[in-house]
Amino acid sequence: MNPVFAIFPPSRIENDRVQIIQTIAEMQSTADAVRAGGQRLALVPTMGALHEGHLELVREAKKQADHVTVSIFVNPTQFAPGEDFEEYPRTLEADMNALEDAGGVDVIFAPSAEEMYPFGLPPYTSVNVRDLDRYLCGAFREGHFEGVTSVVSKLFLACRPNLAIFGQKDAQQLAIIRRMTIEQGFGIDIFGHPIVREANGLAMSSRNRYLNPEERRQARVLSQALQHAAGLAGGGERTVAVLVDAMREIVASASLARLQYAEVVDAETLQPVTALHSGRFLAALAVFFGETRLIDNTTFEIAP
Ligand code: PAJ
Repeated sequence: MNPVFAIFPPSRIENDRVQIIQTIAEMQSTADAVRAGGQRLALVPTMGALHEGHLELVREAKKQADHVTVSIFVNPTQFAPGEDFEEYPRTLEADMNALEDAGGVDVIFAPSAEEMYPFGLPPYTSVNVRDLDRYLCGAFREGHFEGVTSVVSKLFLACRPNLAIFGQKDAQQLAIIRRMTIEQGFGIDIFGHPIVREANGLAMSSRNRYLNPEERRQARVLSQALQHAAGLAGGGERTVAVLVDAMREIVASASLARLQYAEVVDAETLQPVTALHSGRFLAALAVFFGETRLIDNTTFEIAP
């Protein structure tokens, strides 16, 4: 059973604040009725443990659409063996309150694992976006993006949105989902929302709650390193190795940080580059603090 429902059995989560839908069939008929009424429907896919970053996506969705669905599903297929699937925070009650404080949404789609994977795991069917998953996080998280694209395509088919909103925080995920959406012909507009940060620059993440106060303080090196790299490029530096070395040095200045990767890639194809000619580039980092893996990125443009 999906652990969310072990903690909050269905009877408990039925309430008059927001419509909680747990089955694909009911989600589809609700979406069809909304669309038949001429309303524009937005989907914000999440794994719950909502923070201000998620809520900004929800506020954007409310601006751009008449009807907003937030999906909350901790997707088992995108966690590699040994990752934090079991420990991933499940806080449905708090999530409902947070959404209410953010002005409310129309539907929370919170299916069980059995509903999403009726034949068990691993599923027979998967959606895989080739090549774009080889770089950055994809090089370290075996099967992660296949899990993401498979579940997002299922969420698209269940929720039938006109528009879906994702965060630039997960830049590789966003690039892969854009490619999948076009190639599969989903007919859904994909909106990428800028990264929402804490006051010290740390990108908000459900995993930040695992950090102790000293780790949290030191974790600002991620955004500092990225800003510095973008600044070097803005100042005319064209050699990627110089940017990467500068990022590595700033991350290394934090005694508790362990760098997994620091890279500069083409922002659309995610392919590594060695020199910055004209175009849009993505500088990205993954850094461990203890067991907690943090990612962050920034994009910058070099004029021809
Ligand atoms: P989750 O990590 O819960 O994130 C849900 C959405 O919120 C993603 O689009 C993510 O990029 C965005 N987000 C998270 N932190 C953000 C921040 N600080 N600023 C801006 N956006 C932020 O990403 C997933 O869930 C899953 O992979 C999912 C797409 C739901 C598929 O299971």
